[in-house]
Amino acid sequence: MSLTVGFKDVSKRFGPVQVLHGVSFELAPGRVIGVLGENGAGKSTLMKILAGYEAASEGVVELDGQAVRFKGPREAETAGVVMIHQEFNLADDLSIAQNIFLGHERKRFGLLDDERMAAEAGAALRQVGLDCSPTRRVGDLIVAEKQLVEIARALSRRARVLVMDEPTATLTPSETERLFALIAQLKAAGSTILYISHKLDEVERITDEVVVLRDGRLVARRPTGSVTRQQMASLMVGRELADLFPPRHAVAADAPVLLDVEGLAVPGWCHDASFQVRAGEILGFAGLVGAGRTELFEGLLGLRPSSAKSARVAGQAWTRRNPRSAARLGLTYLSEDRKTRGLHLRMGLAQNLTLMALERYARPLLEPRREQAALAAATTAFGIRTQDADVPASALSGGNQQKLALARVLQPDPKVVVLDEPTRGVDVGAKRDIYFLIQRLASEGRAVIVVSSELLELIGLCHRVLVMRQGRLVAELPQDQLSEELLIAHATGTH
Ligand SMILES: Nc1ncnc2c1ncn2[C@@H]1O[C@H](COP(=O)(O)OP(=O)(O)OP(=O)(O)O)[C@@H](O)[C@H]1O
Ligand SMILES: [Mg+2]
Repeated sequence: MSLTVGFKDVSKRFGPVQVLHGVSFELAPGRVIGVLGENGAGKSTLMKILAGYEAASEGVVELDGQAVRFKGPREAETAGVVMIHQEFNLADDLSIAQNIFLGHERKRFGLLDDERMAAEAGAALRQVGLDCSPTRRVGDLIVAEKQLVEIARALSRRARVLVMDEPTATLTPSETERLFALIAQLKAAGSTILYISHKLDEVERITDEVVVLRDGRLVARRPTGSVTRQQMASLMVGRELADLFPPRHAVAADAPVLLDVEGLAVPGWCHDASFQVRAGEILGFAGLVGAGRTELFEGLLGLRPSSAKSARVAGQAWTRRNPRSAARLGLTYLSEDRKTRGLHLRMGLAQNLTLMALERYARPLLEPRREQAALAAATTAFGIRTQDADVPASALSGGNQQKLALARVLQPDPKVVVLDEPTRGVDVGAKRDIYFLIQRLASEGRAVIVVSSELLELIGLCHRVLVMRQGRLVAELPQDQLSEELLIAHATGTH
């Protein structure tokens, strides 16, 4: 049942751009392998070649010593190779069960066996701990739920080789634990798990060995126990990394309040939230996934039904709340769901970047030269890595898409910046860049709100953190009281 996986001199070119250079390694079955590398290093591309989503330009993938050339993911899945995607690969208009069985429908006497599929889908959902009906439309799920459906889909394929591309980016700690238990079961059953993650603590915990890619080349392979996290990070970036967080500046007690929200209610998600943030301040929002943080800000921005007693941006009343009026008043917002709300994936990088400014000023004429100049400035400032500026946003690696989304919301030079999970899927080096950037935005006099599930990020970065639980703001912690224990206690209600 088990399979040996081999990469033999695998190279990949997209047009003139070569993103993988002769990668070779072999994996014995029944192990968990961490696949590490900076954003754009080629991790997803290499795994997509294994799972039949992309074809190698040169070289081959071997299973049990036999060269395989899958014509598509369905063929790979039939051979037992399944991939869980970083950017979800689900059909929004179909139900959960339909998504799980897409291309592998269960049939009985030549007809679709709906009953069996509903039962199997239900079982798979229970395995991943998603408490919801298999008949629900995937488009109605939140990001974390979609991630669990992706995992359930992979499990129902009975994978012998399972690729997980950043599977825990949106999961709660308990969902993550459940996933780790599933991984342990699959491993015990002889499956090979390839685990791509920028969360090095997870890599340290669950993998047996790590392979490291840098600029499309295999640069290291080590038993996990023989390297520290710091060494993993250095292998990825090819140099020693300095402090992750910038030093914090003080916020003047009389700094003007730039965002003042009173009595915000988002039906079903958030009750009576009031908060202020001052010029120069970095305010964190902590809480478990599903606590309502994202929904609070979606409500504030008018992306969901909401009401507020009052909302002011830089002293000005913000009455008809929508993203456009927000931008006009000087508030910009980076959504956590960059795939549907953050970027226009089919459009070019430069167009994506100037769109925000465009929405704000509604300038009728586009100037390609200025657009290109803005892109050049942003790729440097944000370290967006692409060998070709003339590609659609969808061709960027996951982490580089995140950096582009961030660059995009900062184009109109805002007063208040709301960032929902700004470093999701971003490599350690780029994380550090983003932290320093956030610090700079604040020290220049902007107010910055950071919504994050990474406690260490909030602790390292913020002047003050609000904790949300079940739709309510339940605690406010100043910088000198920030600790993981306390944040978790408030977030889970065990305080
Ligand atoms: N369809 C495509 N067309 C052109 N270039 C592409 C395409 N897909 C990927 N690339 C490029 O290939 C390189 C590797 O991308 P890949 O997605 O494999 O990186 P990654 O290691 O998964 O990064 P991340 O950690 O950000 O997810 C990047 O430079 C990316 O822009
Ligand atoms: Mg990737």
